[in-house]
Amino acid sequence: MLLPILIISLSLFQPSVSADYHSSSIPENFIRCLSHEFRSNASILNPLLHFPGINSSYESIWSSGIENLRFLEISSSNRKKKKPLAIITPESYSQVQTTVKCCRNSGLRIIIRSGGHDFEGSSHASSSSMFSPPSVMVDLRKHLRSLEHGAIDLIHKWQEVAHKAHEDLLLSVVLSSAGGSTVAQTTATFRSLFLGRSDDLVKMMEEIFPEIGLRKQDCEEMSWIESVMRFSLYPKGVTSDALKNRVAPFPPPYFKGKVDLVYKPIPYETLDELWKRCSSKDYDRINNTTTTTPPIIQIDFYPYGGKMNEISKSETPFPHRKGVLYEILYIVAWLDQDENNANAESYMNWLRGLYDFMTPFVSKGPRGAIVNARDFDLGTNDGDGHIACGSWTTTSPYSKAYRTWGSRYFGDNFRRLATVKREVDPENFFFSEQSIPPLFLHPQMREMEL
Ligand SMILES: *[C@@H]1O[C@H](CO)[C@@H](O)[C@H](O)[C@H]1NC(C)=O
Ligand SMILES: *[C@@H]1O[C@H](CO)[C@@H](O)[C@H](O)[C@H]1NC(C)=O
Ligand SMILES: *[C@@H]1O[C@H](CO)[C@@H](O)[C@H](O)[C@H]1NC(C)=O
Ligand SMILES: *[C@@H]1O[C@H](CO)[C@@H](O)[C@H](O)[C@H]1NC(C)=O
Repeated sequence: MLLPILIISLSLFQPSVSADYHSSSIPENFIRCLSHEFRSNASILNPLLHFPGINSSYESIWSSGIENLRFLEISSSNRKKKKPLAIITPESYSQVQTTVKCCRNSGLRIIIRSGGHDFEGSSHASSSSMFSPPSVMVDLRKHLRSLEHGAIDLIHKWQEVAHKAHEDLLLSVVLSSAGGSTVAQTTATFRSLFLGRSDDLVKMMEEIFPEIGLRKQDCEEMSWIESVMRFSLYPKGVTSDALKNRVAPFPPPYFKGKVDLVYKPIPYETLDELWKRCSSKDYDRINNTTTTTPPIIQIDFYPYGGKMNEISKSETPFPHRKGVLYEILYIVAWLDQDENNANAESYMNWLRGLYDFMTPFVSKGPRGAIVNARDFDLGTNDGDGHIACGSWTTTSPYSKAYRTWGSRYFGDNFRRLATVKREVDPENFFFSEQSIPPLFLHPQMREMEL
């Protein structure tokens, strides 16, 4: 059995205790509790503990899983983030439970390090299907460099085609502007994954999208796991064993991402403007920077349809289902870390400007968002997670969260999630910037509302 590799970070949420980074700030009762739970067996407990300034492992674990260098910056300006007092790396489910219990008893907050943002689900490494070869697959990439109008025509048509395509075909488009040089060029890439053979794909594409002009030699057949490696940008020849290392194949960038859901095809002129904004001409907008290398801009279009149409909005927390034509993921990334990350705000503001520009063309009431592309611009929980039980007002944490990010990520499912949260974690122990708040109803409202 593959044991979970959870990294649990602790931070103190009792305001009376200052969270400096010395071991002295780790409450003794926490260590005592762990020691008791581990039956004083130091040979089991000690390897799980990583303290700043004491264990060199602390810094390496803290930085290793990070996919976005922005979150390595623990500067005073960065959302008052503090480094954890300790990192615990439990090796079994019972050790996770023990850690939670001891944190609760000692008034410590837990932050759980996840596998990171992950389109391919590769952080769930325990599923055996991942390493068994399924049917042969095709990875097709068709680059359309500098064909501005041709490319926009194709993207315009893509909006009508991709969501209706066979459910074994994922036909996505990526607009990107490479950055790294002073004159960056926008590129549109049609990137596909088809569960089948090249011949069948070529035939299918001739019918639904002849303008692409797909030929067999544009396709590459490979196993599904190989396609995961390819999409994750591992160099050719690296085996899927590399996925178990949980280390990205390239150094992480600094980035900010936002998403949108699209229900109606976007007009040609809007796509044209989007293209222009990605191209070098638009760097004037982000010119208030000291960098000589423009940032990397990437806008991905992922089609929905297929299976997504068959799953009801309330079946899982994710509500964006039937009727969504596609999702847009906007990313701005930068590699060079200049003094105090001086350009970061300009880059992020540029992205926010693009997001504002797209408002009329995407989902509304509310504008949908996706929790896997978490976005603190939408709003965050206030305070330290302590809630006055029994209170329910329009200014309650629940209401505020619903109005800002909750309904965007989860639609009407947010209420159910908050109800479950009340049952399983009424004290709101698991609290973070966008954790689900427990929903407490006024006694008189309870029957009416539930
Ligand atoms: C502590 O744990 C180790 C490793 O599991 C084991 O070999 C040892 O016997 C344990 N010691 C005690 C005192 O239980
Ligand atoms: C970290 O340091 C503490 C205190 O010296 C020690 O008990 C523990 O085993 C160390 N942790 C690791 C992972 O080496
Ligand atoms: C942007 O920077 C370039 C190079 O420094 C400069 O020539 C140009 O005038 C700037 N544009 C704006 C709008 O500031
Ligand atoms: C550029 O930065 C200066 C000083 O920070 C600010 O006053 C000015 O409005 C900015 N210009 C643009 C175009 O953002």
